[in-house]
Amino acid sequence: MVASTPSWRPAVPIPEEWLLWIRDEEIPARSEEFFPVMNPATGQKLCQVARARAADVDSAVRAAEEALPMWSAMPAAVRGCIMLEVALRLRETETELALLETLSNGKPLRESRQDVGKAAEAFEFYGGLADKLFGATIPISPDYLNYTVREPVGVTAHISPWNYPLRLALRSVAPALAVGNTVVLKPAEETPLTALRFAKILFEAGVPPGVFNVVPGFGPEAGAALASHRRINHISFTGSVATGIEVMQRAARNVVPVTLELGGKSPNIVFADADLDQALEGTIEAIFTNAGQVCCAGSRLLLEDSVYDRFVTRLMDRTKRIRVGPGIEDSDMGPLISEEHRRRVLGYIRTGQEEGATLIMGGKVPAEPKAGYFLEPTLLTDVPNSARVAQEEIFGPVLTIFRFHTAEEAVYLANDNPYGLVAGVWTSNLVRAHKVAAGIQAGQIYVNDFFSGSVATPFGGYKQSGFGRERGVEALYHYTHVKSVCVRLKG
Ligand code: NAI
Ligand code: MG
Repeated sequence: MVASTPSWRPAVPIPEEWLLWIRDEEIPARSEEFFPVMNPATGQKLCQVARARAADVDSAVRAAEEALPMWSAMPAAVRGCIMLEVALRLRETETELALLETLSNGKPLRESRQDVGKAAEAFEFYGGLADKLFGATIPISPDYLNYTVREPVGVTAHISPWNYPLRLALRSVAPALAVGNTVVLKPAEETPLTALRFAKILFEAGVPPGVFNVVPGFGPEAGAALASHRRINHISFTGSVATGIEVMQRAARNVVPVTLELGGKSPNIVFADADLDQALEGTIEAIFTNAGQVCCAGSRLLLEDSVYDRFVTRLMDRTKRIRVGPGIEDSDMGPLISEEHRRRVLGYIRTGQEEGATLIMGGKVPAEPKAGYFLEPTLLTDVPNSARVAQEEIFGPVLTIFRFHTAEEAVYLANDNPYGLVAGVWTSNLVRAHKVAAGIQAGQIYVNDFFSGSVATPFGGYKQSGFGRERGVEALYHYTHVKSVCVRLKG
């Protein structure tokens, strides 16, 4: 059966019911309950997914625990090769996965395709690294041999968000698997489909039963049960600050370490001497990619005074040309994830105006398309930096625009915020670029670009954007213990 398809027909039929993935099979939830997954471009139900609760999470953790000895003892190079096979199959399944992502998340198809590519890159990068994580020998004295080895931490839990469902889930799953850990993944309730489809891909590529398990369900049920589980050894969480704090509190009771990636309110600083054409395109990409539902969105545009009026005029012209429409039609910008989230973003736009900001573009639900959770690309100027819209993550297509006169003022404004995830700096002055990069409290700085870097680039936050690093070699360290062995050599 194919779920109802009002204005389009997917090339691949979407199953109506999806189950949990535990060990090597699809199984119903213990309660036999389901929850609906919606299509945000139509507001209609796409399919339904088994609703995991504590008992199901427990089964998944047990399965992961049982699989641990075998997976961690496998020669690292073999594990790496299996991961490369997973990457290959991910790429082969790109069209199907991208379609599932677009149907449940709403983003344009080309963005979904890129996301699948990025997910595959994670398996390529960490698959290649699996047998290259070396220990050290420490020359303390001729009478001792002291060396370190890195061991997997054990069962790792991953709680992932809906904005980049597959890509962000696999960003932490890939390094965890590479070094011999097993995995229980709780995908976001809005978008669990690609994680479930991926489980089969992984299994067919040769990953043994129980190494990877998926428990779709609601945050306060499946998510909380996973975060509180006594038999997990690490949690990777990506999502809101409030939920991150709760996850950390639950983990703390069992002395389980966490890695938190909690979003941001990232500054994008344009100096008058920048290549303004590039800066304009970069600004558009920074805020309207995935309808602004991006942890590292450039949601605060800081413009140097001498270029302010000219740049804002060009920005308005460029923003006008953004085609809002269903992701399946590969529009420029798709809908927001849910009606509730759109209400929240509209609430921020209202609050911003009450706080003194001027709405110069957008701010409304567009006349077309009628169905779905669309919102116009929105620009706010005259925003006081103390305003909520300047300080809080809106997670929508809403750009707040500020004026600065000196580099020092730009850095001050950039840092005058509880978050510190990324920052963009546009200038042709090399010295200034490096000085500003040094002054900003954020995990990654982009110069004359936005969203640059790759799977090899460590990624993570300062301040309330979280801690720990995803991607890069750094991520591997979160998923290993370092063990020191010290051997007395004298008689
Ligand atoms: P959330 O942080 O509540 O959800 C993220 C994940 O955590 C989901 O899998 C969810 O099921 C799970 N979760 C929720 N409550 C939980 C709990 N009590 N225990 C364990 N797991 C739990 O984020 P939500 O509600 O989807 O979005 C709210 C805001 O969070 C957004 O508007 C945005 O500002 C921010 N956000 C940031 C993201 C990022 O990329 N850093 C991604 C998603 C949301
Ligand atoms: Mg939430």
